[in-house]
Amino acid sequence: MRQGIKLTNEYLTALNKHGVKWVYIEDAVSEGIEAYDVIYEDTRVMANAIMAEILATNPPDLSWKNLIQLHNCAQFIVADIKQYRPRVTIELWNLKTLKDYLFLHSVNVAVISVLIGWRMGFNNQELEDITMGVLLHDVGKVTISEEIHNKPGRLTEEEFAEMRKHSRRGFDFLKERGAYNPTVWSVAHQHHEAYDGSGYPNHRQGSDIHLYSRIAAIADVFDALTSDRPYKSGWAFHKVLNLFNNGMRTKFDPKALSTFIDLIPLYPLGTAVKLSNGEMGMIKENYEGNYHRPIVRIIIDANGNPLDEKSCYDLDLSKETDIKIIDNTPIW
Ligand SMILES: [Fe+2]
Repeated sequence: MRQGIKLTNEYLTALNKHGVKWVYIEDAVSEGIEAYDVIYEDTRVMANAIMAEILATNPPDLSWKNLIQLHNCAQFIVADIKQYRPRVTIELWNLKTLKDYLFLHSVNVAVISVLIGWRMGFNNQELEDITMGVLLHDVGKVTISEEIHNKPGRLTEEEFAEMRKHSRRGFDFLKERGAYNPTVWSVAHQHHEAYDGSGYPNHRQGSDIHLYSRIAAIADVFDALTSDRPYKSGWAFHKVLNLFNNGMRTKFDPKALSTFIDLIPLYPLGTAVKLSNGEMGMIKENYEGNYHRPIVRIIIDANGNPLDEKSCYDLDLSKETDIKIIDNTPIW
């Protein structure tokens, strides 16, 4: 939206209709807090559009035209990520909608996977391969009915068995089409395998799962848990990272997981937080590798009184070590 536009009820209804649950508002209090994406907007728009076209039909539209365009996008994604500035926060919640979940999910998971691969030292060819593989990892989902895909609550055993078929079907679609190369097909096939052997379809374990799929598994679960779905609200980043560090640790490749954890901030820029001294504010800046201790713009004092724009100040938790973040419940 353009600067100066008033958020009227009509706008709010329209945004709601498109599944947009929140927007960034630039005002005097939030001055200097800018949320950037890790890839350029044009790249994301283009990748989303091609994935939407591929996933619009059953079977998926894996025409050469789409595959060539997707490969161009993969090259853009890799180039954008290689320019990634360390302080930029990954903005995965931005403008997510329920209806378009599948293609947005594919692009998000690809972006996170490339970030991990890049940090693990992949060369250009490997980065392009993992991008293509992860963009196409869920093409088999086009065969799963909306009722199962968007079902509120637990799937029945039968429904879950049907859902599990998407990885094999995706592999078959890509193989049949000869799309890109067999490494790319393997991501569709193996992205639900788990490092400890508890995944599907073949209960592969450890290095018997291709590295691209071990990386995709982390990105896939992270994006699924942080996303809003018809039956649940997305989890906050720090909650998911806590789960990855504890209950889910054995499911993931240890090296890929620690690379991922070093990359993802606990509290993305602009997140509202409550501090142990009673003050409240929003995340202004994250320190890579020290995500527990960001710089917080304080906007509500310890007595619960909002500060005027001149009294708001930045508190650097890397220096104020006796104060910590205790909550990120929305405060406005
Ligand atoms: Fe999947």
